[in-house]
Amino acid sequence: MLSVPVLTIDGPSGSGKGTIGQAVAKSLGWHFLDSGALYRVLAHLAQNLNITDDNLAELQELAQDFEIQFMPQDGAPPKVIYQGEDISNAIRTETAGEMASRLAPIPEIRQSLLQKQRQFRQPPGLVADGRDMGTTVFPDAGVKIYLTASPEIRVQRRYKQLKDKGFDVNLTRLLDEIRERDRRDVGRETSPLRPADDAHILDTSDLGIDEVVQRVQELVAEQA
Ligand code: C5P
Repeated sequence: MLSVPVLTIDGPSGSGKGTIGQAVAKSLGWHFLDSGALYRVLAHLAQNLNITDDNLAELQELAQDFEIQFMPQDGAPPKVIYQGEDISNAIRTETAGEMASRLAPIPEIRQSLLQKQRQFRQPPGLVADGRDMGTTVFPDAGVKIYLTASPEIRVQRRYKQLKDKGFDVNLTRLLDEIRERDRRDVGRETSPLRPADDAHILDTSDLGIDEVVQRVQELVAEQA
């Protein structure tokens, strides 16, 4: 049986994964998985339930049990729905991001989220964005992309994204947070942020969205 095709897009925050991934998924008519949203939902739920990051048993149980839906939106990121409630904005706060990044190194949590992520692999295909999509979650993906950009460019993009959503953000603090988050993502032992050996590496610092989307589409077409 032929397996459902997967395109993985990994990279640090602000490299353009989400924007590029959603655009390519739309053009291919494939599903889209924002795996970072799963880490953020877990962090958000844990915060609401007052579960701290040292309470491994409860975190693991929570990670296995929660269910979310991504609701595609025209021209905007998919809405994240949990128990009928739209939690898209709640999971985008820096507090949820910070907690997500502190939960992400814990091997048991990554393991609990693994099956959840793989369930998104449904016909006709999946575009999966994250940190370890090409290395751990979908190692057999047909095309793997690793997006990079300088920290300064990435922080400007994140700043604009957050401002557009109405969040009050401080640029210098954001740069510090992004650097700290990169350090944790790259330095952790389980599934660190790194390109898969067979990934195509694209530096998006000086490229527009359309140029990157086109390049990714070409790589998918070459593989088909
Ligand atoms: O991509 P996003 O910033 O929404 O992800 C939130 C956090 O979740 C990241 O800082 C990272 O630590 C973690 N993450 C991860 N593996 C993924 C996706 C996200 O460790 N595949």
